[in-house]
Amino acid sequence: MLSPVLITFSSHSIRAETTLSPEIQSGGAAGLWGGWLLGAVILMIATFYAIRGPIALPKETKKQMVQRFSPYQRIVHWFVVFLFLLLSLSGLILLYGEAFLQPLFGVDGYAAISSAATAAHELFGPLFLLGLLLLIPLYIRDNLPDKADLNWLAAAGGYFRTHASAHRFNAGEKIWFWLVCLCGLALSISGLMLLFTSIGFQQSTIELAHVVHGAVAVFMVAVALGHVYLATIGSEGTLHGMLHGNVERRWAAKHHDLWLQELESEATDAEEQP
Ligand code: HEM
Repeated sequence: MLSPVLITFSSHSIRAETTLSPEIQSGGAAGLWGGWLLGAVILMIATFYAIRGPIALPKETKKQMVQRFSPYQRIVHWFVVFLFLLLSLSGLILLYGEAFLQPLFGVDGYAAISSAATAAHELFGPLFLLGLLLLIPLYIRDNLPDKADLNWLAAAGGYFRTHASAHRFNAGEKIWFWLVCLCGLALSISGLMLLFTSIGFQQSTIELAHVVHGAVAVFMVAVALGHVYLATIGSEGTLHGMLHGNVERRWAAKHHDLWLQELESEATDAEEQP
């Protein structure tokens, strides 16, 4: 016998039927605290935007562009984003749908929505690991910590008054990158364990994987809201780089001046080469 649990192939699911407590299956404390965390993060971002507004760029008459991301770097980023959005949405439906969607769509309607969410989650979940394995080597080199990160943190990222110098990625982006690596891998491993329970994990191990998966997922969605805010309406000109591959020189000078200096001195050196 492979496993103490019974696998059901009906209703598109290869997940094993376990005897997890209803508390664990509905996300338990992770679901409850996660809801509060997501609400608090959305409120904080809205308050910050209302007080600070978008980070504007200084006026410049001549528009000069600087190359920031290769097409491959952008394709991998958007592939991971697509999966993350799909998995977050289907995961949140599974975690909170009963409370919010069942009253709106009725028992049968919600059953259809939650089966679709489960199918999408199980189908696209393993691809997220592939996305991470493609993304990590592309961005790791410029996300290694250095001394400029401490100065950036001490200047609160320049979000309030002072200017904060940074290389290609600032300390905030580096923290996001390492959270993506660690939380993304924890999510993928625990998710695969939940998908393939038939391998024969102990009941307590599956329960632990459930708790880790729920808690890390909600935490990552909460942090991702901050990343999305700063990459879009929170900071003028940032999204252009990930959409088109290049950014305005004045954007680079404001947010990543040390990186711009490196690029320009490399260009000067190349021009001086005989
Ligand atoms: C709608 C959602 C998202 C938008 C609009 C977005 C946008 C962006 C933009 C504009 C940048 C470039 C920032 C810069 O030039 O300094 C960026 C970088 C990055 N994003 Fe996203 N992003 C989204 C979601 C995600 C998700 C879900 C992940 C991972 C799970 C992710 C991982 C990254 C990474 C690793 C970088 C490189 C910066 C670094 O290494 O710190 N993004 N994103």
